[in-house]
Amino acid sequence: MHGFRLDVETHIITAAATSVQNLTKCIRGIGIEIDDLILEPLAAAEAVLEPEERLDGVMMADIGGSTTDIAVFKDNSVCFTSVLPIGGYQISRDISIGLGLTFEAAEELKKKFGDVTPWHGEEPEQDRELTLGQHNVSSHDLSEIIRARVEELVRLIVMELPDKDYAHFIPSGLVLTGGGANLGGLAELSHDIVRFPVRIGVPPALPGVSDALCDPAYATSLGLMLWRSRNSSAQTPQAKGGIRGFVSPVLRMFRQ
Ligand SMILES: Nc1ncnc2c1ncn2[C@@H]1O[C@H](COP(=O)(O)OP(=O)(O)OP(=O)(O)O)[C@@H](O)[C@H]1O
Ligand SMILES: [Mg+2]
Repeated sequence: MHGFRLDVETHIITAAATSVQNLTKCIRGIGIEIDDLILEPLAAAEAVLEPEERLDGVMMADIGGSTTDIAVFKDNSVCFTSVLPIGGYQISRDISIGLGLTFEAAEELKKKFGDVTPWHGEEPEQDRELTLGQHNVSSHDLSEIIRARVEELVRLIVMELPDKDYAHFIPSGLVLTGGGANLGGLAELSHDIVRFPVRIGVPPALPGVSDALCDPAYATSLGLMLWRSRNSSAQTPQAKGGIRGFVSPVLRMFRQ
C-alpha cells in the first residue's frame, strides 16, 4: 500500500522527575533492580479488567491509601489516566474526627465494620452498637460518615471522565478496586449515584499464587506481575536479576 501520511494517536503519561528519581532510588536502595516503570492504574487494570471491557469501554478506579488512580480504556487501549488526591486515609481521618477516635482506631473500625450499603427506605436502617476495644460506636453514625466521603469520591471519579455520554463512552461501566474497594455496599452505593454498571474488581486466583491475594488491595501488585508476563517480549537484555529474579518463578507458572 502507498501512503502519504502516517498518524498515531497516543496517550502520554508524564511524571515529576524528582518523584520518579526518589522512588527509583528507594527501590535500588533495598537491592532490587528496576526493569520498567508502570503507572499504578495501568498495572491494576491488568489484574481486574476483562478483555471485553477494555474493548467496549470501561473506567477503572483504584482507591488506595492516599490517592485514587483512574484509567479509562476504549477500543482495547488506554485513553485517559488521572490521579485524585483522595483515598482511604481521608475516610479514616473523617471517622477519627467525627467519632473522636485515634486515627489507628478509626482505621481499624473502618476495615472491620465499614459499610455504605444504601438504604432505599423499605425498612428502617438497623442501628447496632459496634465494639472496638473500649470504644462503642453506632453503626449508623459510622456508615453516615463513611458514606459522605465515598459519595464525594465517586462523584469526583466520574467527573474526571472526558466524555459525559457514559452509555456510549464506557458501556462496561465503572470497576472499583484497591484496598478502599473493600468497603461493604460500595458497588451498590456507587451504582445509585452514577446510574451505570459498577462492580468491584477482585484479582483472579492464579496458579501458584496464594488465594489471600484475591483481594482488591493486591490488584496493583498482581497486575505488575501479569504486565511483565504479558509484555515479556519488551524485556530488555540489560535487565537482569533484581525484581525479575523474584517474579520469574511466578510468571513461569502463569504461562503454563
Ligand atoms: N476491609 C477494608 N475496608 C475498607 N477500607 C480498607 C479495607 N482494607 C483496606 N482498606 C483501605 O485501603 C487503603 C489502602 O489500599 P491500597 O493497599 O490499595 O493502597 P496503596 O496502593 O498502598 O496506596 P496508594 O495507591 O495511595 O499508594 C487504606 O486506606 C485502607 O484503610
Ligand atoms: Mg495503590
